[in-house]
Order: sequence, then C-alpha cells, then structure tokens
Amino acid sequence: MVIKTRITEMLGIKQPIIAAPMGPFYTKELAVAVSEAGGLGVLSHTNLFGKSSMEEMKKDMEYVIEHTDKPFGFNIRTARLQLDAPGLCRGIPRFIMDNPKLKEQCVYAITSAGSSKTLPHSKSYQKLKESGSNIKHFHVAPALWLADKCVASGVDGMVVTGGEGGGHQSYEKISSLVLLQQVMRRHPDIPVVACGGFASGEGLASALAIGAGAIAMGSRFIASKESEFHEKYKNIVPPAKASDTIWVTGVLGPIRLWQNNYSLHHGVVTSKDEKMALEAQITPQMAMEDQKHYEMTYDGDIEDGAVLLGQSIGVIDSIDTVQEIINEIVRDAEKRLREANSYII
Ligand SMILES: Cc1cc2nc3c(=O)[nH]c(=O)nc-3n(C[C@H](O)[C@H](O)[C@H](O)COP(=O)(O)O)c2cc1C
Repeated sequence: MVIKTRITEMLGIKQPIIAAPMGPFYTKELAVAVSEAGGLGVLSHTNLFGKSSMEEMKKDMEYVIEHTDKPFGFNIRTARLQLDAPGLCRGIPRFIMDNPKLKEQCVYAITSAGSSKTLPHSKSYQKLKESGSNIKHFHVAPALWLADKCVASGVDGMVVTGGEGGGHQSYEKISSLVLLQQVMRRHPDIPVVACGGFASGEGLASALAIGAGAIAMGSRFIASKESEFHEKYKNIVPPAKASDTIWVTGVLGPIRLWQNNYSLHHGVVTSKDEKMALEAQITPQMAMEDQKHYEMTYDGDIEDGAVLLGQSIGVIDSIDTVQEIINEIVRDAEKRLREANSYII
C-alpha cells in the first residue's frame, strides 16, 4: 500500500512519513532506516561533546549516501543563540553542490527554532538551487504568526508543530489539531507536514484528512530498533503515559521533556519577553553547562539528563524496526481513511 500526496510527490518518497530532526542527538542510522523504508530520513543538527556541527553534518551526509540511494534531508536550527547556524547555511549547500550523488538525494532542508530566511538568503543555497538541485526548503511553524512569516519568506513548505510534540515549542502552546486547522484555513495552498503528537495510523489519517501531505515523527522513531538513542532512553517510551512529559524553558525557547530530576528542577518562563530577559543573562559557561545534560542523556543518564519526548509516547506500545513502524502506520491510516470515506453518501 502506498499513500500518494503532494508532499510524497514533491520529495520523491513512497510514504507520507518523515523523520523529525532530533538534535543535538545523532540520527544518521535512523535517517538511513527511514529513507530505506519508504519515508524520508532526516539528519539532525548535531554538536555533542564540543564537536563541529559542520564536520558532523558532512560526515553524516556521506554516511547516508553510502548506505542508501533514497532521498533524505537535514536540519539546521537557525536560532539567534545557535552561533554555528549561519556557517552551516553557507557551508552545507556548497558541500552538497560538490557531490553529484548527494545533490541528487538531498531533497529536503528543514530549518527551525529561528529565522526562516537564513537558509534561502544564503548565496550558496541560491547557487545550489540554480544548479538544478531539487532541494525543497521547509521551516518549522509552531504558531500561526510564525506560519505567516514562513509564507512571507517564500518557503516551499512548512512543518506545523503543535505543543504536544517533543523538543522545541512556541510560547503559544497550541495543539497540533488547532494549529493545523488554523494554518490550512490561512494558507491552503502551501504544502504542510503535520508534526507533534503523531505516532500512529490514526494520527496519519487525521493529518491527511485536515489537509497535511505528510506527518513527521520524533518520539515514535526514538522507540525504533535502528535509532541511535541509548537503550535506556528508548525503554522509557513504552510504558510511559502521555502525561509523563512537561514543558520547561530550554536554551532556545520552550521545550517538552520527560519528567525527571533535570526537567522537574529546570523552571519555565511563560512569555517571549521573559525569555529575552533571561537570555541576556546566559553566559557561554551556562550554555555549556546545559549542553552537558544532553550529553549525559546520550550516554544513558536518563535521570539527570535532558530527555526530550512528546505526549505521543502515550500511544507507543513497543520498540519496533522502522519498517514495521511505517508499515503499521500506513496500514492503519488506510483503514481509518476508508472507513471515514464510507460515511459520505
Ligand atoms: C530528542 C528530540 C530532539 C529534538 N531536537 C530537535 C532539533 O534539533 N530541531 C528541531 O527542529 N526539532 C527538534 N525536536 C522536535 C522534533 O523535530 C519534532 O518536532 C517532535 O519530535 C514532534 O513531536 P513527537 O515527538 O510527538 O513526534 C526534537 C525532538 C526530540 C524528541
């Protein structure tokens, strides 16, 4: 069974399922597995243990094209505090342009957590496009006003992410269901990927019914056999409940984390103004100290590390292969969509 949508056509993939980026963790094995299984694998913006995000991204890209011939994508977080972002927006398109296989396979650049203009304004990205690359630029829109900004900056598509999702969020705390309806009404012609809280065929069916062309999943793919996440991290997911995550203030803005020693003592600011005031006090040492909690998680310290997960953990019952996950989701979505179609007489 294949579900064909505007997004699957645009990206040349078989199924409308995309791996959500999950930096600063590594997702190259996961990206290969998702692309091989017919979805779209995505490399994360990775800079653990003081490594250069540029070198890590280049190595990961080479790894992906050595292990699959299928399309894939990559993420750059373009937040103000993400000091490596402008360099990545210049260097990565150049790197892609110099490698014909990479240029062929790298079809999706997703930027997030900051400006939707940084990548399209980069000269090397413009050159990559002019040189015949089919790459499409999507930006994450976690609120309606941010979706408006994406459209104004000429994105090829948007990833519409609601507050139930794992990781980065907006201060508006709008659910995926409400935000998707808002965006589809305001921007009916823009290709949309639904994200945040999707982990099942029921979720995919509902996203497609609202008008999205695909879903992107983070938490569901953490709980996969192929993902590089620590076994202890994966084993949180089943049996966790949807209510086991909380919303706290991260370095780049609000984030949703699993409840543990780290998140329960982390604190939360409620508005962007409050966050700006806080940002002004953040020293490089404080940012490095916070980064350590992601490295601790990577090494398996799930009590004192930062464990990003979304409410969708409440619908994930098992750790499976990526192929099994995608097959089951597509099969169940088909069932739901056919059933819903039969209501119309
Ligand atoms: C471990 C983890 C790390 C994440 N890191 C990033 C990131 O680097 N960039 C980004 O745009 N979103 C990031 N996110 C958000 C995801 O891309 C996506 O929006 C989220 O996982 C969707 O919710 P779900 O977990 O219910 O699928 C992260 C999410 C998780 C769970």
